[in-house]
Amino acid sequence: MKTMSLARGLAASALLNGFALTGVSQAQEPIVIKFSHVVTPETAKGRAAERFKQLAEQRSNGRVKVEIYPNGSLYKDKEELEALQLGSVQMLAPSLSKFGPLGEKEFEVFDIPYMFPNRESIERVESGPIGRKLMAKLETKGITGLSFWDNGFMIFSANRPISVPSDLKGLKMRIQSSKVKEAQTRALHAIPQVTAFSDAYQALQTGVVDGTENTWSNMYTQKMHEVQKYAVDTYHGYLGYAVIVNAKFWSDLPPVIRATLESAMKDATQYEHEIADKDNEDAMAAIEKSGRTKILHLTPEQRAAWVKALLPVRDAVAGRLGSDLVTELARDQAMATSP
Ligand code: LMR
Repeated sequence: MKTMSLARGLAASALLNGFALTGVSQAQEPIVIKFSHVVTPETAKGRAAERFKQLAEQRSNGRVKVEIYPNGSLYKDKEELEALQLGSVQMLAPSLSKFGPLGEKEFEVFDIPYMFPNRESIERVESGPIGRKLMAKLETKGITGLSFWDNGFMIFSANRPISVPSDLKGLKMRIQSSKVKEAQTRALHAIPQVTAFSDAYQALQTGVVDGTENTWSNMYTQKMHEVQKYAVDTYHGYLGYAVIVNAKFWSDLPPVIRATLESAMKDATQYEHEIADKDNEDAMAAIEKSGRTKILHLTPEQRAAWVKALLPVRDAVAGRLGSDLVTELARDQAMATSP
């Protein structure tokens, strides 16, 4: 009798702690989250991943162990998404431009050039119905979306001076795996070349591609400024991320652990949003200081020429992304920016 109630008591307390009663030693094994990403640890994404690790481990009293694999050291862009679905890694933060090959092409709305006037307008979309719908759709792919992280707005770079859109004509440009990026490159009469992020530096160095687009932070931390003579602050497109987890791993977690991780993610996200801008500002200053890349700052007239050249991309991709979605987004942006 006594033994029975003791066993019941143990089972109940184990369940309360979020364990199935599968043996004490097994219950004490830490839950390991392998978090893979492709940028350096110094970037905003890299630092926020570290912050998440620190908070998750601390708040779970060591029950959770987060192993971070930066620099694409485990997987490159495409492979990491497959690895997540297979459960070989548990967490990623790919750019929103990389969900097309997964069949989630609507994420590419964030790639539409000159759609978003500023970071606030993006955050509004991410935290609103569109962002929620996008994240929810991932469930059908065995993925749970946790959070949106920031990088910033993109610039173009090449080995020839770029000030007007026609300066990119005929150049081979490294892009991410997004059809919107492809349409954008073609609108500039350049040739798109999808290349994994970890291969981008070498592709530029060896002349496999002539130029690229990215944020100052990515350009600097990948040392692309050492192999690109010119850059121009077009700020034509946005680079952001979705922090995602393997859905089964996530739903199988003891609720108390999941709640702890959600709180760590919330705080890491806030931190990431706070540091992303400065990260890009510092990187631009460092590139300028290096003297390796000459940075051209556009005049308002020059910027207008880029907007004019890239605006047609919006209509060109509406069929792929869903014209309702693109119209909704455009209306939302127009309302938010009208005086
Ligand atoms: C790129 O491929 O250029 C970016 O998505 C890399 C990153 O994760 O910021």
